[in-house]
Amino acid sequence: MNALKLDITKSGVTITPDMEKAALEANALLYSGKGAGNDFLGWVHLPSSISAADIEAIEAEAARLRAKADVVICIGIGGSYLGAKAVLEAMSDPFRLLHKAPQGPTLLFAGQNISEDYIHEMLEAVKEHSIAAIVISKSGTTTEPAIAFRIIKAEIERRYGKREAAERIVAVTDKARGALKTLATQEGYPTFIIPDDVGGRFSVLTPVGLLPLAVAGVNIGELVRGAREMEHATGEDVPFAENPSALYAVVRNELYRQGKRIEILGSYEPKLQYINEWWKQLYGESEGKDGKGLFPASVTLTADLHSMGQYIQQGERILLETIISVAKPAHEVRIESDAENLDGLNYLAGKRISEVNRMAELGVQMAHLDGGVPNLRVEIPAIDEHAIGGLLYFFEKACGISGYLLGVNPFDQPGVEAYKKNMFALLEKPGYEEATKAIKARL
Ligand code: PA5
Repeated sequence: MNALKLDITKSGVTITPDMEKAALEANALLYSGKGAGNDFLGWVHLPSSISAADIEAIEAEAARLRAKADVVICIGIGGSYLGAKAVLEAMSDPFRLLHKAPQGPTLLFAGQNISEDYIHEMLEAVKEHSIAAIVISKSGTTTEPAIAFRIIKAEIERRYGKREAAERIVAVTDKARGALKTLATQEGYPTFIIPDDVGGRFSVLTPVGLLPLAVAGVNIGELVRGAREMEHATGEDVPFAENPSALYAVVRNELYRQGKRIEILGSYEPKLQYINEWWKQLYGESEGKDGKGLFPASVTLTADLHSMGQYIQQGERILLETIISVAKPAHEVRIESDAENLDGLNYLAGKRISEVNRMAELGVQMAHLDGGVPNLRVEIPAIDEHAIGGLLYFFEKACGISGYLLGVNPFDQPGVEAYKKNMFALLEKPGYEEATKAIKARL
């Protein structure tokens, strides 16, 4: 049984039999495959379908890369970036770069932007390091990672020659389609496949997330085990009241129906900041369509209490808040007593910092409730692979149920094409001649 706890008692929502029925039906659709987007349901059973041999194969490839390079550049965007980044940041010491003896290679990310300065500074920084790359793109045609890969591939080939480059570059892509697959086959890169029926933002537990994380030394077996337990804890046979994903989906949908328009995800642990980013993609791309959907926003606390806190407390009353709370910190630091007590903090002497953090969390929750911001609380026992794996699947399952409750196809993203068409037209990509003429006339 997964140890994640969901508290909806401060949401102000009273669950009705109709809500329960709708949630059970929505969850059942994910299993029957009769809902919209049913060709992208591979993530539902993904954790339980990953075998020990799959994990071993990924770990073996990761070990090979670790032996070759002290910096591995992971190239991808959106769902081909955020899952690995989120788990890596959660599992890492934020000050790791300052440690004298780094454990294993440093993982860097590229292809998640088109910034010339970013790519230049990365290449400068890795000059004295031995490098390898993992290039990730399901479609194999996404512009941002394709540009970054062209540059990093050239750098690797310049340094090590074409033959050795094929030992230092690993591709993660579709089994048959796309330019990356063609390139990987032609160059002889080791390749991992992204299943056809798993969309980008649901792909963190495929090699998209698992390979980079294994390279960074994350225990991917435990990550998958945590997700697998959550898969069982949110299965179609689980009673509604015991299914945290179904409860979360129902409450946020009811609050949306009542007029809330923005859901803020927050945590008092800065290591979870990129979990927020991953969650924003998951919910933003899955629900934000057909003129509907809660806008997913995020805060890192307590830092953002000193910026966004004012708005949350007293701005437009269109917010709900979900807090990821961590029951047990990994380390113990106590506040010391000071003879002069000039800062007036001796009343806290002897207390652990986490006790103060906990009181901040509680105090903020009460203040926000008083300010008309309903609160949901997701508690995980600790920040470790098992708990994070469970958390990821909890949000994925809730997203599938929530999208169906909202009445959208949670598994497509037609809206992300609009900017691409304009960008290609502006860049005069062959095939876009008419669009180029039209867009230039608008400038
Ligand atoms: O969720 C999605 O499908 C998208 O955000 C993609 O992950 C993103 O656009 C990257 O696509 P690809 O992996 O095809 O390069």
